Amino acid sequence: MSFPQSRMRRLRRTEALRSLVRETTLEPGDLIYPLFICPGEGVRKPVGSMPGVFNVSVDEAVREAEEAASLGLGGLLLFGLPEAKDEQGSGAWDENGIVQQGLRAIKNSAAAKKLVLIADVCLCEYTSHGHCGIVKETPDGWTVENDPTLDLLARTAASLALAGADVVAPSDMMDGRVAAIRAALDKQGSADTSILSYASKFASAFYGPFREAADSAPQFGDRRSYQMDGANLREAMREIDLDLAEGADMILMKPAMPYLDVIRAARERVDVPIGAYQVSGEYSMLQAAIAKGWLDRDRAILESLVGIRRAGADFAVTYFAKDAAKLLN
Ligand code: PBG
Repeated sequence: MSFPQSRMRRLRRTEALRSLVRETTLEPGDLIYPLFICPGEGVRKPVGSMPGVFNVSVDEAVREAEEAASLGLGGLLLFGLPEAKDEQGSGAWDENGIVQQGLRAIKNSAAAKKLVLIADVCLCEYTSHGHCGIVKETPDGWTVENDPTLDLLARTAASLALAGADVVAPSDMMDGRVAAIRAALDKQGSADTSILSYASKFASAFYGPFREAADSAPQFGDRRSYQMDGANLREAMREIDLDLAEGADMILMKPAMPYLDVIRAARERVDVPIGAYQVSGEYSMLQAAIAKGWLDRDRAILESLVGIRRAGADFAVTYFAKDAAKLLN
């Protein structure tokens, strides 16, 4: 049947009809809000390249958690800005590290029961050189050493679990990290802590503003020897298969908007929960256009997130989480 019997516009006539036939939902509970925790008290330091995003001290992080819970968000993803950095990134697994402190404080608040607390596991915020693993000089130049880094990541994840993380999320892209983390968690009795692996994480220009927010820009070189080439979809599928075989409970795809096809392919391939990270550059790009009055703020925010859900993600990590929840509530 075709026109004039078929008229697609019949079901677009009223909001009630449009709502009835809407295929994709977006709810506050689908959204994870990233927090950058820094030393101090009463600190809310704006991140220049990410309007509306702050480095917050532990006490402020608790207030953020309470707001997130009252808005019905799904959870928080925690990053840390340590007091000091060193070659190995020892602040990452310090029992009294900045994220560990944040986790304990948030766990003690009323918000904790309503939120999933996810701790990012990586070394780049903690190393003096800004790379995600141990750097070694070789005759061919520097390299990030895979296997010695695994132990440090495993210690970090174990310490974050002890501090109260419900989920640990390795974002370093070392081979074998999921297995190493699972083993370390199980060994210390954290068998119920789950792993959300950044299974396909592309070496992306869109992480630029994050590196200001987390003070984690590499001091030399780039991350292309460990993060994925943006041209490769099949390789992303292998990364997912390997992480699941090593024991990942959920996977995170990142960035989102330039890689929606990869999210879709992952959705069709695996049945584990899939998250997608609308990264800093995606946020800043939208905020810049919104500030200029070139985009309708509310509609652009929601459309960007519905697109991620439609591509196949169960949940989205986004700096717009609070804004989107206010629009949805
Ligand atoms: C740590 C990490 C990064 C992001 C999340 N975890 C930075 C990077 O890989 O350089 C980026 C998140 C964002 O851009 O919002 N490795």
